Amino acid sequence: MKSRQGDAISVLQLTDTHLFADEHGTLLGIKTSESFKAVIESVVNQGMHFDFIMVSGDVSQDYSPESYQRFAHMVALLKSHVFFCPGNHDDGPLMYRMFDRLGVDTNKHVICNNWQFVFLNSEVYAMAHGWVQKEELQFLRKCLERYPDLNTVVVVHHLPLLVKSRWLDTQTMHNQDEFNSFISKFPQIKAVVCGHVHQEFDSVINNIRYIATPSTSIQFEPLSHDFALDQKGPGWRYLTLTSQGEIRTEVFRLPPGRFIADHGVSGY
Ligand SMILES: [Fe+2]
Repeated sequence: MKSRQGDAISVLQLTDTHLFADEHGTLLGIKTSESFKAVIESVVNQGMHFDFIMVSGDVSQDYSPESYQRFAHMVALLKSHVFFCPGNHDDGPLMYRMFDRLGVDTNKHVICNNWQFVFLNSEVYAMAHGWVQKEELQFLRKCLERYPDLNTVVVVHHLPLLVKSRWLDTQTMHNQDEFNSFISKFPQIKAVVCGHVHQEFDSVINNIRYIATPSTSIQFEPLSHDFALDQKGPGWRYLTLTSQGEIRTEVFRLPPGRFIADHGVSGY
């Protein structure tokens, strides 16, 4: 794949759409198909160029085939190539089976200019926390050894870091030490891009940029000891990746107040 803009690559990240079979399905009071639709409309109205879309998991909230159909039909409005990794609320095998014929690319390895993107699966069946299996790390190793000169972005649902939010940190990537120690051996890895935490996160540790992005549905309150929702609006992110290996990125959100979650709930 070649960037249409020359040297730099632009990517749109969408994450944690949490769609249902029922288009009126709600997650803590928010109709997730409506908030996703509003995000898509805002992206269209922004008119920003992007070479492809990366989706970092939790596409579904109910594991249903209809939720994946809904996602594929909605994201097609953006008329762009779409790649994804599954999240803990997804049925990964179902996604890989369905998405190919629905126009969502199931390739887990993408090369664009002098960058490669590797989409890893961190879902653990029926559990909220994440774990990246040895086979996934071996796949990453193969990509890195085969293309050692390419700058690399790893896309994985669970952020391999704690976010200082006690309840959310119990469902982090549980083998994050193994994962971080593995990726630290490859200086060509520039970033790990994630979903799951439903909040903006951007931190550099050992020369690797760790990025997480707001959900297109509900937002979690940063640094909260117990489960709590944030008033901020649903969001999305653009990343610009330069031929020199630099990353520029910006998060956008819908204005607060348009999609109001039910703050009385104590869990998710
Ligand atoms: Fe999520």
